[in-house]
Amino acid sequence: MNAYDKLLLQNKAWSKERIAADKDFFKRLESRQSPKFLWIGCSDSRVPANEITGTPPGDIFVHRNIANMVVHTDLNMLSVLEYAVKILKVDHIIVCGHYGCGGIGAAFSNSNLGLINKWLRNIKEVYKIHQKEVDDVKDPEDRVNKLVELNVIEQCRDLVKTSIIQNAWKVRKAPEIHGWVYGLGDGLINELITIEPDFEKIDPIFRYDFDQLG
Ligand code: CO
Repeated sequence: MNAYDKLLLQNKAWSKERIAADKDFFKRLESRQSPKFLWIGCSDSRVPANEITGTPPGDIFVHRNIANMVVHTDLNMLSVLEYAVKILKVDHIIVCGHYGCGGIGAAFSNSNLGLINKWLRNIKEVYKIHQKEVDDVKDPEDRVNKLVELNVIEQCRDLVKTSIIQNAWKVRKAPEIHGWVYGLGDGLINELITIEPDFEKIDPIFRYDFDQLG
């Protein structure tokens, strides 16, 4: 059997197993979703949100792109963020990078890769912010992993710069923002940062005046 046909066959088996364990499983999920988490992760096939956190369908609203970026002009990311925060009212947003990220590694290269140049450019900007700290790491793999960590922290901070997060913090004092890095070699999550909702602590240059807007 080829790999493609195997997917469909495994799906049938999975559905059957779920129903055997809990006959209303799909009926419950069919009517509504109420995930408590938004996941912004890397597209890398080795970092599936549900599997590595041991969660079933319905628990995590997911957005993934190359190197788990929060790009403030990315309509896809912003639409997912707005829906998750405003409509689903998630309590937590998790930005999850992973050690050995190919996207982060590619950002160090000078190759002209075409369209992807524009995406990697965002990672190069993060490098520029933390150039000294990254360059101090001599081993090339460790240097990539240092930028993986700093990039996750920077994307968490970028979330706070959006009016979507700021408005939610003002109105309902949520969600919390968490930065994680997943280890491909051991399957473990390294929790790097948590940003508690605090409208007053937002960097003034990025803070929007919602009262003024009415
Ligand atoms: Co990656």
